[in-house]
Amino acid sequence: MAEKSFKYVIVGGGVAAGYAAREFAKQGVQPGELAIISKEAVAPYERPALSKAYLFPESPARLPGFHVCVGSGGERLLPEWYKEKGIELILSTEIVKADLAANTLVSAAGETFKYQILIIATGSTVIRLTDFGVQGADAKNIFYLREIDDADKLIEAIKAKKNGKAVIVGGGYIGLELGAVMKINNLDVNMVYPEPWCMPRLFTSDIAAFYEGYYANKGIKIIKGTVAVGFTTDSNGEVKEVQLKDGRVLEADIVVVGVGGRPLTSLFKGQVEEEKGGIKTDAFFKTSVPNVYAVGDVATFPLKLYNEMRRVEHVDHARKSAEQAVKAIKASEEGKSVGEYDYLPYFYSRSFDLSWQFYGDNVGDTVLFGDNNPETPKAKFGSYWIKDGKVVGAFLEGGSAEENQAIAKVARLQPAVESSEALKSEGLSFASKI
Ligand code: FDA
Ligand code: NAD
Repeated sequence: MAEKSFKYVIVGGGVAAGYAAREFAKQGVQPGELAIISKEAVAPYERPALSKAYLFPESPARLPGFHVCVGSGGERLLPEWYKEKGIELILSTEIVKADLAANTLVSAAGETFKYQILIIATGSTVIRLTDFGVQGADAKNIFYLREIDDADKLIEAIKAKKNGKAVIVGGGYIGLELGAVMKINNLDVNMVYPEPWCMPRLFTSDIAAFYEGYYANKGIKIIKGTVAVGFTTDSNGEVKEVQLKDGRVLEADIVVVGVGGRPLTSLFKGQVEEEKGGIKTDAFFKTSVPNVYAVGDVATFPLKLYNEMRRVEHVDHARKSAEQAVKAIKASEEGKSVGEYDYLPYFYSRSFDLSWQFYGDNVGDTVLFGDNNPETPKAKFGSYWIKDGKVVGAFLEGGSAEENQAIAKVARLQPAVESSEALKSEGLSFASKI
């Protein structure tokens, strides 16, 4: 079978791949030099839309509306854009074998791709309930959400099960965003998760209490402290009930599972150094193999601000790590260098008419400020995290663009605080005056 050869190959066609392509174009790339190989059938798009506006019953977001790079206020890269730049988009093509010593990738259909420089941007995949043997977890109408095909299947089910019952398994990002969007689609929603409050990786109990109260007011029932241990089906093989560990049984027409992600590194196992579950890189996203870079969800990189190796599964880092890698590649070709990646962690989420942002590190003591009563219309509240007498992280619900910038600045500059009490009473104005 034919062999194709490129100077640069990006394996994976998600957020990081799209932003890397734009940076290559900015820096100058010759027609035919760059290829993106993606398992998905469409050009890179802003993945966060899939759990939000893509699932709205009225005027949903659709491609080409949310191709990269609109998510960060940039120009939309339509399939034509890649054609104009001479960047080859090799879609619906899954790489099943990588030989980093021979600079070669092989697709499921048996095509061979050669490269001089490889950027690994394979992102994450979902953890499945079948992975830990939950009985009946392969029933019809149990959904996961990672790619546009998954979202399309879920939309079909929402249409088929109008006004039906949905059970959301998991209380993380997917759980909270999908719980909301299923309710907006007029389904009766139950959410189930094992922890004492939602999003425990980031939220304090005070932050979570607001969102849980808000969701309850919308009519969403939340069941905490237990997990789904089995599913029963009807004669069509469609899910009918969710059995919980605590003995309760929930009726379900649709189940959406969000129990975490796993970086897709298996193609490269044993060929490249790994750390903390990801592919280890330096501050330029170069891996232990000199002509191979890794960006986005798969990279474990030095987070300079905290002097620690970290992996980050969020879109802002996918965009910025991709840009950093391409800048470093192009600079090194000219014998130059670029500054080290100096990332400030930034996470956000939106559901119903809520919107929060978080910057920095969620370690140390916490101080809640503002009004976190879920009954308050347009409630605005937040939290600071304090470590060694300094503010290291900040969260804000309902902030304006300026206020969000202010909490970002606090997290970056890490100002000292006199006392938690003073910080609590100053609240958001502490950030605004920094
Ligand atoms: P990404 O997952 O975007 O892309 C990986 C690509 O590689 C995919 O196209 C995949 O098909 C392809 N691929 C994988 N293996 C391959 C192979 N062997 N051969 C060929 N192609 C292969 N973050 C945030 O900050 N705010 C938010 O609101 C959201 N919302 C959100 C919603 C949903 C539904 C998801 C799933 C995720 C988010 N995220 C988010 C997380 C964010 O989208 C994520 O961190 C980035 O998409 C990561 O970008 P990558 O390019 O690393 O992977
Ligand atoms: P997550 O790690 O945010 O949440 C997983 C949750 O699963 C846990 O909080 C827990 O409540 C629950 N859980 C674990 N085991 C369980 C079990 N056996 N039964 C029931 N619940 C269980 O992962 P996710 O929500 O699945 O998100 C997947 C990926 O998508 C992540 O990379 C995430 O960053 C990304 N994502 C991000 C956003 C955002 O940033 N706004 C939105 C959607 C998805």
